[in-house]
Amino acid sequence: MLSRTQALELLQKSAPTHLVIHALETEAVLRALAERLNCDAELWGLAGLLHDLDYPETQDLPNQHGLLSVERLRGTLPEEALDAIARHNEHNGNQPQTILDYALRCGETVTGLIHTAALVRPTRMQGMEARSLKKKMKDKAFAASVCRETIKECEKLGLNLDDFLTLAISAITSIAPRVGLVAEV
Ligand SMILES: [Fe+2]
Repeated sequence: MLSRTQALELLQKSAPTHLVIHALETEAVLRALAERLNCDAELWGLAGLLHDLDYPETQDLPNQHGLLSVERLRGTLPEEALDAIARHNEHNGNQPQTILDYALRCGETVTGLIHTAALVRPTRMQGMEARSLKKKMKDKAFAASVCRETIKECEKLGLNLDDFLTLAISAITSIAPRVGLVAEV
């Protein structure tokens, strides 16, 4: 299996900064989910970090997104991580099946909501609460491209929306300086 350092190097070779930030946030959420659910945090973290590896090539080819990453990563990550990467995008013909598949889908999607919410708060991640995120989820105009239904797939993991949002806020707060979400002074 790739080391975390190798995985990050691989990603940074082709990914623009905003995609690396999305990958780091997804990694943090996936690790926190694995710890909560007593699963393999290393493996889940790597799946999070690399899930959009092919995005620079497939952003206009939704039916290929995920599949090209799997092709590139085959032999370097266990099958369950490759499956989750293929299945995080339903537009390539795959559907989620395992707990890791659902974790990657809701975990990567919630990062879009949290990142956007942080950017409109003067204190960024500091003091963010699940309650206010839930309100923002009901406002269809806010972060309109973030699929609310995919976030709610957290229920497939046995986590209610409040628990999941709280966990994801805490995970992203823990890497806030790395992803540019610290208040400017
Ligand atoms: Fe993603």
